[in-house]
Amino acid sequence: MIEKTEFPHFMLKEIFEQPQALERTIVSRVGLSEGEVRIADEIHIDSAELRALRRIHIVASGTSRHAGMAGQYMFQELACLPADVDYASEFEYRNLPIGPEEITIVITQSGETADTTAAQRLAKRKGSRTIAISNVPDSTIAREADGVLYTNAGPEISIASTKAFTAQMAVLFLLAAYLAQVRQELDRENLREWIRELLAIPQKVRTVLECSELCRKLAEQFHRAEDFLFLGRAIHYPVAMDGALKLKEVSYVHAEGYPAGETKHGPNALIDEHLPVVVIATCDPRNAGSLLRYEKTVSDLQGFKKQSAKIVALASEGDREVSELADHTIFIPQAPELLAPILEMIPLQLFAYYVAVRKGLDVDRPRNLVKSVREE
Ligand code: BG6
Repeated sequence: MIEKTEFPHFMLKEIFEQPQALERTIVSRVGLSEGEVRIADEIHIDSAELRALRRIHIVASGTSRHAGMAGQYMFQELACLPADVDYASEFEYRNLPIGPEEITIVITQSGETADTTAAQRLAKRKGSRTIAISNVPDSTIAREADGVLYTNAGPEISIASTKAFTAQMAVLFLLAAYLAQVRQELDRENLREWIRELLAIPQKVRTVLECSELCRKLAEQFHRAEDFLFLGRAIHYPVAMDGALKLKEVSYVHAEGYPAGETKHGPNALIDEHLPVVVIATCDPRNAGSLLRYEKTVSDLQGFKKQSAKIVALASEGDREVSELADHTIFIPQAPELLAPILEMIPLQLFAYYVAVRKGLDVDRPRNLVKSVREE
């Protein structure tokens, strides 16, 4: 019997369990001094086959698909492997020619989602090897996969997924780093640096969790809003998507996640003093692409301000430019671009949670939703 212990809801307990969930998911799979990722005996696909890979397909539903969207950037950046991401419920309609030179990664907290089970079976029929990323040992999807990488987040009771999601992103990072290792895209020193940064993430999550009271105050201020826009560029776009989904799931508020660069093609018409805009505006100064994206996001913020939008920004610790432009700023510890999404998700989970609580809703069991949809 899983208890809420001192927490009022499972969702809040699970948000605060993320540092331990990440440590249990990461630590046993890396060797810092050796600069190596050790997951060969979990994925059961030999190095020769991994070196021959030309493409990765990622298939999932809901929050798990957002993890896959973040993984897409990790596979491209670390292993130079292109990756496609599909909704599990749409996968069959794409009729993709998938063959032995492509693996299909199936991401699922429960390991029982019907659409995702069907998608994995279809990929196998097409000749693709499959790797399942699941949080439930011996689940259907885990049993039917060629290889399994478990998130060790522990049982996730709240219908809205939080600790499983950040653990999924950590596993995807490990898999991308492992592929880079096997395909010799990264040398030992580079791998050692990435492993060092990954091992530092759980403690940085503990630091971000200190923004909980600020998130509660923001929820108090914005709990009557009927629409939200969440914006992020590149690997931060999946974070915007899941921040919007969390708010929809638990507080029944309409929220939309969007690539920040796309607002000028439509959503800008929505942005005025009545529409809170949550913008992920972090920056990894050691990453040239991140610096470029940051400049564009600052320019977006200046435009939104002219449109009198109420702006909540996520910015990197020490940033002064964004906090001058935003009405509210939540600071995120410095982290490499590919790992920042794990930290950025924390305040968005907390904000959604506190809006639902302020609205007096059943946070752990939102109406019309279930933890795992077992029929297509
Ligand atoms: C939904 C859950 O039913 O299924 C979401 O409410 C989840 O939280 C989605 O992301 C996919 O579930 P799973 O178990 O396949 O990750």
